[in-house]
Amino acid sequence: MRRLFPCPGDDGSASGTAPGSGSAPGPDSASGPGADGGQWSIDALADAYAYPEEYGHGPGSGAPDAAPAAPGVWLRANMVSSLDGAAHHEGRSQPLSSEADMRIFGVLRGLADAVVVGAQTVRQEGYGPPRERKAFAWRRAAAGQGPAPAIAVVSAGLDLDFSQPLFTSPLVPTLLVTGAGAPSDRVAAARAAGAEVVFAGEGATADPARLPGALAERGLRRLLTEGGPRLLGQLVAGGALDEMCLTISPRVTSGEAPRIVNGPGVEVPVDFRLAGVLEEDGFLFTRYRRTGSRAA
Ligand SMILES: NC(=O)c1ccc[n+]([C@@H]2O[C@H](COP(=O)([O-])OP(=O)(O)OC[C@H]3O[C@@H](n4cnc5c(N)ncnc54)[C@H](OP(=O)(O)O)[C@@H]3O)[C@@H](O)[C@H]2O)c1
Repeated sequence: MRRLFPCPGDDGSASGTAPGSGSAPGPDSASGPGADGGQWSIDALADAYAYPEEYGHGPGSGAPDAAPAAPGVWLRANMVSSLDGAAHHEGRSQPLSSEADMRIFGVLRGLADAVVVGAQTVRQEGYGPPRERKAFAWRRAAAGQGPAPAIAVVSAGLDLDFSQPLFTSPLVPTLLVTGAGAPSDRVAAARAAGAEVVFAGEGATADPARLPGALAERGLRRLLTEGGPRLLGQLVAGGALDEMCLTISPRVTSGEAPRIVNGPGVEVPVDFRLAGVLEEDGFLFTRYRRTGSRAA
């Protein structure tokens, strides 16, 4: 894996080559801190993707460019897109992904308090409970986090299979985020299965602008959303997204799949600043942070 941005050496943190690799610095050998034989260690990736400093997750992430959309909470998204902008191929994101993409996916989960995900992605991708990973144990303990992130499923209808391990046997209780008008029998079924129901808004759906704050009230402040596109569309429209981690896959799919953000257009485009780019096997692992300013 190579770091393309910030350019190696620009921030004084990397000489342009993996420590101990013995190869001469240069654009093709650029690698990262803690790199091992060209492959970044989990710790190096965790440092590169750390939440902003005030969220207590170690060095490497710097201060935010803009105040978080919700005070005291940081919401980042992790998505993968085909080269031609598709968010899935035949209903799954896996065909767009790679081994390195899955490694980063795991690192982002390892850093998060909670993973916010749309109900359709849970239904379609068959979400299970996250497991505890040794590689993150010290980091999570130091940051006061539980052994694994909670999954927070966002749903209005709550038409989910509550007999699945995601609800019956997670390491930390799964949350269901919905509106106060959610069907009461489904709320009861979710609770009976062991899920914690979080109401974010008075209507039938969750109010995306209130979603991060509702999770923060439960101590979940380092948030990661894994989509899908319709949920992300809601979060962007609600002004709730602070950071976008976007993998650009060197694959073209054509077809009718939506973009990674699929919802009503925002009145004024929201500006993000490029914060990092890694590369492996032609996949680009980009990271952008909202700047707080809006396009003219
Ligand atoms: N490329 C990627 O990185 C990526 C990431 C994730 C998923 N995907 C792909 O995207 C597809 C699924 O995504 P999707 O866009 O169709 O669906 P989605 O965003 O995963 O889920 C949509 C559902 O979320 C719930 N929801 C969204 N906003 C809500 C709100 N404000 N309040 C309450 N509930 C809300 C609703 O659930 P109810 O219907 O239960 O009410 C809605 O039907 C799959 O093919 C998956 O493979 C791709």
